[in-house]
Formats: sequence, C-alpha cells, structure tokens
Amino acid sequence: MAVYVVDHPLVKHKLGRLREVDVTVSEFRALSNEICRLLTYEATKSLATEKKTIQGWAGPVTVDQIKGKKATVVPILRAGLGMLDGLLDMIPGAKVSVVGMFRNEETLEPVEYYVKLAKNIDERTAIIIDPMLATGGTLVATIDLLKKAGCKHIVGLFLVAAPEGIERVTKAHPDVDIYTASVDERLNEHGYILPGLGDAGDKIFG
Ligand code: PRP
Repeated sequence: MAVYVVDHPLVKHKLGRLREVDVTVSEFRALSNEICRLLTYEATKSLATEKKTIQGWAGPVTVDQIKGKKATVVPILRAGLGMLDGLLDMIPGAKVSVVGMFRNEETLEPVEYYVKLAKNIDERTAIIIDPMLATGGTLVATIDLLKKAGCKHIVGLFLVAAPEGIERVTKAHPDVDIYTASVDERLNEHGYILPGLGDAGDKIFG
C-alpha cells in the first residue's frame, strides 16, 4: 500500500480553511468537494488507457480512452456524501456504490447499516471517499466487504488521515492505495483526529 499526500498549494489552502472553527456548513461542503476533485485527479493518474480510432473533423484520428468498465465511487455514509459531487464532477459516468457505517462511540468499531453496490463491481475500480480516516476500522471493514464482492482494484480518498488509521489499514490491506490532503498528528482519547476537522459528518449535514 502507498500513501500519497496531495500537498498541492490549492489543496493546502482549501484544507486550511476547512480546519477553521468558524467554517460554515456551506463552505465546508464546497471545500470538501473542491479538495475531492483534486484528490481524484491525482488518484486516477494510473488508470489504464487504450487507443481508439474515431472520426475527427479532418478524418480518422487515434485517441486515448480509459480502459475497461466505468469506475465505481464508494461514499461511506454519511460524511462521504460530502465529497461525492466533487468526484462525479471529474468522473461523471462513475457508478455509485453506497456503504453505510457509523462508529460505535464507546468501542470506536464500525457498525454497518446499509450496503448497495454497483452491478459488476468485480470488474470496476472502486474509489472509496470519506473525509476522515481515523482509527481505520471503517475503512478496513469497507475494503473487506468490497473484496468479498470481488473488487480487485481499490483506492481510498480522504481529506485528513491519522497515522494510527493508516497503520491499521496498511496491515490489513497492503494492496490498497490511500490519497489524502494531510496525514495529521494523532488521535485523541475519543478517536478524533488532531488537529483534524472536528466532526465532518455534523459539519456537512448541519
Ligand atoms: C466518521 C468518518 C469515517 C469514520 C472514521 O464517520 O466519516 O466514516 O468516522 O473513523 P474510523 O477510521 O475510526 O473508523 P462517523 O462514524 O462519524 O459517521 P457519520 O459519517 O455518519 O457522521
């Protein structure tokens, strides 16, 4: 597994605003989607392409197109929905597979409550989106279920990630790449990322 920190100036600037205590719900939504577009751009740079000959204005021309079935985006409810529009701006034809999980506040372990995956998901690249990778429990459980459904190529996009979560996911799923705008310092005793964003779900849904 590789962890890519997308530290482009635009990403860093937008993430800085996202961390501010007075950020409004509408700003948080807009910034989450803007950063997600930039993460998507980076995370898709190794997608395979193939040549195709099309009819151009001056006759046949050979162009590149992405190979294989359309990717599926996997927003983890709720907070992952806050990045969905940004991803779909970049990959409008992506299929959407929805995974509902929340963290039990005492054990910090994920509780699954909804799963609806795209058809033929075993033939698609799966792009998981979630603003936060904290303990990593939610991501490990999501990758487990995607692999059980036959997914072979999985990547995850996060606004912020904690080192503890990255370590857990690396051990469980060394083949999955992570793209994040920041690897933050650590988790606090309640499993919140420091400096982090606070509760992204509440900030997106109000
Ligand atoms: C947050 C976040 C991730 C999860 C990360 O969701 O959006 O899904 O916690 O934590 P973990 O890495 O420790 O598993 P939350 O449980 O707050 O649910 P919500 O999106 O419905 O608000």
